[in-house]
Amino acid sequence: MKLTGKIALVTGGSRGIGFAIAKILSENGALVVITSKDSEKIKKAEAQITNSFGITCDIKKKSEVQNVLNKTIEKFGKLDILVNNAGIFPKIKQLHEIDEEEWNEVLDVNLTGQFRFTKEAIPHLQKTSGCIINISSDAGLKAYQGFNADAYSASKAALIVLTKCWALEYAKDKIRVNCICPGVVDTDMTKPFLKNQKDIEFMNNEHPLGRIGQPEEIGKAALYFTSDDASWVTGAILTVDGGESIK
Ligand SMILES: NC(=O)c1ccc[n+]([C@@H]2O[C@H](COP(=O)([O-])OP(=O)(O)OC[C@H]3O[C@@H](n4cnc5c(N)ncnc54)[C@H](OP(=O)(O)O)[C@@H]3O)[C@@H](O)[C@H]2O)c1
Repeated sequence: MKLTGKIALVTGGSRGIGFAIAKILSENGALVVITSKDSEKIKKAEAQITNSFGITCDIKKKSEVQNVLNKTIEKFGKLDILVNNAGIFPKIKQLHEIDEEEWNEVLDVNLTGQFRFTKEAIPHLQKTSGCIINISSDAGLKAYQGFNADAYSASKAALIVLTKCWALEYAKDKIRVNCICPGVVDTDMTKPFLKNQKDIEFMNNEHPLGRIGQPEEIGKAALYFTSDDASWVTGAILTVDGGESIK
């Protein structure tokens, strides 16, 4: 039990990677607040994670983000851990085919959304010398042939540099800020690209370890960053990607 007494907030905790992170944090003693925009999915996740508390929130709405922080503090009195995980993946298109609305939508959720949560969480994390984990992506580290999701790549690359900026900015408050870059992980987000055996084989082969990842494998990395095992780790960018990004 590495997180006994800790209060964690996981955005996008209703399913996929966020769900796996929330689950492992709770299994290690944390009380976990999970958010997502779909109240039914939140309820389902809440029922499966011990000591979890769901709050519906569209990350695009400042007032709803503020409501999550207010409710968390009202109920638990403090915040120790923020996991910026919620995200969307756009339709695959080359840059000249994207319209500005599609571009802005991805940046609004994947980048400004993380800004909104972090801004509201910082005053509380300053009081607990807490920590932040940003869930970026291998797509934020380099270009991939045929990937063609530029707004997504831009949002994830920005999150990598922001991890370093925030780590430096808030080191004086002993807030640690770290980042995980997953490769392809088996979730609803990647289902459209894993429809048949040929797709699955292609995706598996993209990863030198020969397979795509499971959400729990990202959860284990998150547990490391949130625990005292990482007490001297800040500004770190950890790939958890079966080797995809080293090719
Ligand atoms: N899966 C991968 O291969 C992979 C690889 C690298 C990085 N990542 C990153 O990992 C994170 C989680 O991805 P995932 O694969 O677990 O995705 P997912 O299964 O599609 O889950 C996305 C989560 O984000 C929430 N979300 C989306 N838009 C939101 C909004 N406007 N307001 C509030 N919550 C919102 C969803 O809530 P609802 O349930 O309410 O829709 C859901 O909980 C993302 O940041 C993604 O970019 C994923």
